[in-house]
Amino acid sequence: MAMRIIILGFCVFLTTVAVDRNNFKTCEQSSFCRRLRNPKQDGSPYELDLSALQIFDNYVETKLINVQANIDLKFTLTALVGNIFRVTVDESKGVHVRYKPQFALNGEPQVTKLEVLERNQNILSVKSGDNKVILTAKPFKVEFYKNNVLTSIANGKGLFEFEHYRKKKEGENDVDTKEDPGAWEENFKSHHDSKPKGPSAIGLDFTFPGAKRVYGLPEHGDKMALRTTGPGGSDPYRLYNLDVFEYELDSTMAIYGAVPLIHAHGPLNTVGIFWHNAAETWVDITNSKDSNVMSSLVNLVSGSKSESSVDVHFMSESGLMDFFVLMGPKPKDTVKQYSSLTGVSPLPQYFTLAYHQSRWNYNDQDDVTTVNSNFDIHNLPLDVMWLDIEYTDGKKYFTWDPIKFSSPENMINNLTLTGRKLVVIIDPHIKREGGYFLHEDALANDFYVKNKDGTVYEGWCWPGSSSYLDFYDPRTADYYQSLYGVDKFKGTTHDVFIWNDMNEPSVFNGPEITMPKDCIHYGGWEHRDVHNEYALSQTFSTFQGLLNRSPNLRPFILTRGHFAGSQRYSAMWTGDNMALWTHLAASFPMCLSEALGGISFCGADVGGFFNNPDEELLQRWYQAAIWLPFFRAHAHIDTRRREPYLFSETVIDRIRTALRVRYAHLPLWYTLFWEHESTGEPVIRPLFYHYPEDEEVFETDNELLVGDSVLVGLVADAGLTTVQVYLPGGDSARWYDLQDFKLYRGGTHKISVDMDKYLAFYRGGSVIPRKDRPRRSSAVMHHDPFTLYVALDEKKTASGTLYVDDYHSFEYRNAKKYLYVNFSFVGNKLTSSFIDKTDYPTEEWIERVVVLGPPAGIKGAKLNSKSLGIVALEVSYDSELTSLTVRKPGVSIREPFTIELV
Ligand SMILES: *[C@@H]1O[C@H](CO)[C@@H](O)[C@H](O)[C@H]1NC(C)=O
Ligand SMILES: *[C@@H]1O[C@H](CO)[C@@H](O)[C@H](O)[C@H]1NC(C)=O
Repeated sequence: MAMRIIILGFCVFLTTVAVDRNNFKTCEQSSFCRRLRNPKQDGSPYELDLSALQIFDNYVETKLINVQANIDLKFTLTALVGNIFRVTVDESKGVHVRYKPQFALNGEPQVTKLEVLERNQNILSVKSGDNKVILTAKPFKVEFYKNNVLTSIANGKGLFEFEHYRKKKEGENDVDTKEDPGAWEENFKSHHDSKPKGPSAIGLDFTFPGAKRVYGLPEHGDKMALRTTGPGGSDPYRLYNLDVFEYELDSTMAIYGAVPLIHAHGPLNTVGIFWHNAAETWVDITNSKDSNVMSSLVNLVSGSKSESSVDVHFMSESGLMDFFVLMGPKPKDTVKQYSSLTGVSPLPQYFTLAYHQSRWNYNDQDDVTTVNSNFDIHNLPLDVMWLDIEYTDGKKYFTWDPIKFSSPENMINNLTLTGRKLVVIIDPHIKREGGYFLHEDALANDFYVKNKDGTVYEGWCWPGSSSYLDFYDPRTADYYQSLYGVDKFKGTTHDVFIWNDMNEPSVFNGPEITMPKDCIHYGGWEHRDVHNEYALSQTFSTFQGLLNRSPNLRPFILTRGHFAGSQRYSAMWTGDNMALWTHLAASFPMCLSEALGGISFCGADVGGFFNNPDEELLQRWYQAAIWLPFFRAHAHIDTRRREPYLFSETVIDRIRTALRVRYAHLPLWYTLFWEHESTGEPVIRPLFYHYPEDEEVFETDNELLVGDSVLVGLVADAGLTTVQVYLPGGDSARWYDLQDFKLYRGGTHKISVDMDKYLAFYRGGSVIPRKDRPRRSSAVMHHDPFTLYVALDEKKTASGTLYVDDYHSFEYRNAKKYLYVNFSFVGNKLTSSFIDKTDYPTEEWIERVVVLGPPAGIKGAKLNSKSLGIVALEVSYDSELTSLTVRKPGVSIREPFTIELV
């Protein structure tokens, strides 16, 4: 959580007003953004020197020369497996070494063969598979072709900039020809940035001929399709992890997370750029559709086949220039290419996909026990209780308040008796208090981030005066990991999981509420270089800590700060949102952008963190949030209690219904997370992901797809009685409303939405596995039987998958103990078969099959399996003939079977 805090001596005042923009820089207030945003008057001084070209099996290397400053840079282009190119630009003889992120990549990417096609003084043309790259020396640019179609151009607009490190000359305060008073030191409000290494920014523009929209760059409180920024318009999208109190929507301001990745998409091609840099970054976007004049460049180079283009300009304050071009050609491909670089979310434990109840704060252990039992009393399913900072002894992490939480083990056992878990918060700031073991250990072993003069950095956060662990130091990381052991973190058990908050890092009295950029990390790196990776460095250590603690249990961590690669260790949520309809609406585009940025495990605080939702908003929020991967209610300490059982019976009933819909679909969520781990496909997907040629959906972010089988719409305003829903796929598509199985074709539909109505549709052609028996927690559903919903398409066929294992351990990886089942319905026959040759001794079985859009005249069904032989089953149509139920097949999912409708 974040609070507006004004520190006067030892008094802390809390106020509740909206975001204070003055706390955060605009591009104009950021020296490097100011310098790089506007092109140089006298043209770009950079040229490739192809006479210095060296050609290797997988890459080429040559000189990129700043002819004005007479500085040589080293340029490389590498071909990577999976239709990816990597480009780096570094200094050859730099005064300082440039930083390369340490945590984002999931190992070194695999290289592949690069062939030279053509070479002369001004041109080098190379290919890898059906991808081609043409380098032009002067003017310097790099063109990328897929199947001989030009899909992206780097430096087409000549905005390449590389501020090489230099020694400051006497009285010097300018960069090249550009005078900027902030180049060598910079002030913001009362904060001074000493910039000991001087200016070091890098920038590059990309043009995407044929692209209609560009997506990505989470995290912003904005729409999914990125807006045109630019002089006179909005600021560039800013990527700089910040704790923004009451963040704004429809804004390009930076908030908690930063994933420097874009997907440029048009009906014919999708291309991605992953800008591998952890420093503060600004990104300008120009959509040609927003300006009447089409980029003249595109006309020039593309033979003018494309009617549109998008320009994107990345600007980073420091670090190596290192970017990956994801060659597509479809959204599925760029997403997979990105996940091949930065990894996937590992399959989480089943309970993590169920309902989480949080609040700042559950006051004491009796409160936790009472809330827990109230969920049971009201038959509301629940899996996880959460504790915010007040459980600690005076904000000292890894301790318990000795009075309010005097017997945590007992409290946790009360939870786990009903199959539930506990999550507690652990932030990276450490209270500077004599006698606090963690502070003493950190001082004694030099584990803290330093000031520029080498002393330990101190800032203000929840505990008051705090210092910040430097997880970049492997010794700190090792030590920190050990703290999570149940022997070290007394009172915890293997059923306790972790929430890493405030890890941007949040520093209440720091510049822009974070750490000064001239602070020093392990290895001598400035905070400036590593800032956006800090949260990831913490969750990396936490993840290892939980693995060491419980080697055969999949860790669960929630983080607020995040970067490219954070998905490998943690789920994230959209931070401190508000109890407003607009924030409910923003939860879909924000999580869709994260999913496109590789981070599928995303959710938003149900009900809104700040302020009190009215009953209508709260109910709508539950009805929508059951369709986001991470599903947690959370609230600020100043809000009224809003556990669902506190409302009228009608409201409780509706929330219970929503929770049960979530629980019924846990097998689907779990299967999708498994498929995410094995293929990199996102768990939730924007419509354009599956309908990349349908321009109707290029900006659609008030609807989303869960996998490829469920389409969900938002009801995100007060008093709505109808909502328009667009169902893709055209006239031949079939969609079934999952509340009444009403059949819709593709197109726009106006749907009545009384308070019991939520918008969710099964795609005709899919099989959705569910567990429909209502229970108090997911743990007690593990052995429950499945109901298969077979939603038929216009050819009366359907298929879908189901993944099953022990729901918590690593046996699925270590011993292949899992089942991955394919259900396929063709010619009135449902066939179950195994996709992988594995086994798991599950007790789960099929209790029902519900066919949506069923054939007419079916009288019965015939089950055929090895252990049961041929068994006649009863069937019944519902009164409207929209569904047909096959009763009690009773067959284990551990064996293949067929069920034929006769
Ligand atoms: C655990 O539950 C028991 C029985 O309901 C109760 O008496 C006890 O106070 C609970 N313990 C804690 C720490 O809440
Ligand atoms: C499932 O089986 C059907 C029919 O054999 C097949 O067309 C489909 O590709 C299979 N799906 C998967 C995910 O293996």
